[in-house]
Amino acid sequence: MVQGAVNWNTGQTQEWLQAYVDDWVAFYRKQTSDGEVASYIPILAEADQDDLGIAIIGKNGLTVRSGDTDIPFTLQSISKVISFIVACMERGVSYMLQRVDVEPTGEAFNSIMHLEMKPVKKPFNPFNNAGAITVTSALPGKTSDQRLEPVFKLLEKMLGYRPELNVDVYKSEQDSSTRNRAIGYYLLEMDFLESDLDVTLETYIKQCSIEVTIDDLAQIGIILANDGMDLKTGAEIIPRQVARISKVLMLTCGMYDASGKFATYVGIPAKSGVSGGILAAVPPRVRDEAMPFTDGCGIGVYGPALGDKGNSIAGIRLLRHIAKQWDLSIF
Ligand code: DON
Repeated sequence: MVQGAVNWNTGQTQEWLQAYVDDWVAFYRKQTSDGEVASYIPILAEADQDDLGIAIIGKNGLTVRSGDTDIPFTLQSISKVISFIVACMERGVSYMLQRVDVEPTGEAFNSIMHLEMKPVKKPFNPFNNAGAITVTSALPGKTSDQRLEPVFKLLEKMLGYRPELNVDVYKSEQDSSTRNRAIGYYLLEMDFLESDLDVTLETYIKQCSIEVTIDDLAQIGIILANDGMDLKTGAEIIPRQVARISKVLMLTCGMYDASGKFATYVGIPAKSGVSGGILAAVPPRVRDEAMPFTDGCGIGVYGPALGDKGNSIAGIRLLRHIAKQWDLSIF
């Protein structure tokens, strides 16, 4: 692996950056063996442990892709960012913030311990399962397909194509969703849900099963980095306030109980999913030296081997390395 100081002022060509990223991906791919693919949703256990890929899309169009770039995977918890954005757009930001708080829990993604231990009036944040299921319950519509329509529409606007549901993943999670059902019943008892529990869970599990690639995540990332605006036309895809709150939540809660470490060592708003995806949005930065991607970029990572907090183990290490080399931290 490339070691030591690099002068990024020299030759910031696509080929040059590509050579570095190829080198880093090859290095961190060896560390996928430190993690394990998720198995609590049975079909996710079929993923290839060694896979690792990254796509970086710059605001100026500069794109670097490396490793396993073409493997489709499901959004899983990354969908929580999209459903929160859509719920804010459909129901209003202030309404949604009455329904769900913006505080990290320091607990695992599927924990409700913190909800039981504190007399709270709403779930802690939209990115743990309790908060995400609550957000999904606020999407308008009777059936799960009606509720997901604005989610698909927003994705289509951002990606330029309409992604599809991976039906096998959906069925596998439906058949194994005991924990989320338990969370759902607790939310029901607390009067946090706005709609029928079965339809809510069906919608939540479907949103988790939407299939994407790392290019898609990088594309969503650059739109968020650009405060919700279409890069080419400047048109508003996501209201600025919603994009801003989403990035705050990604930074404070996006990696669950590893969010503090991620903010410290990587310093980029990001959201992980249990299938191994990471969506990252790097806002424009002012830097003394000419670093790559100073006007912002979106990053998509795929690496299904997870660490003990449910985040892609090699993906996080790769992001940490890139953030350090290119000074991508927002701090
Ligand atoms: O709720 C679940 O169990 C999954 N569909 C999503 C969880 C997830 O991606 C957690 N992230 N690491």
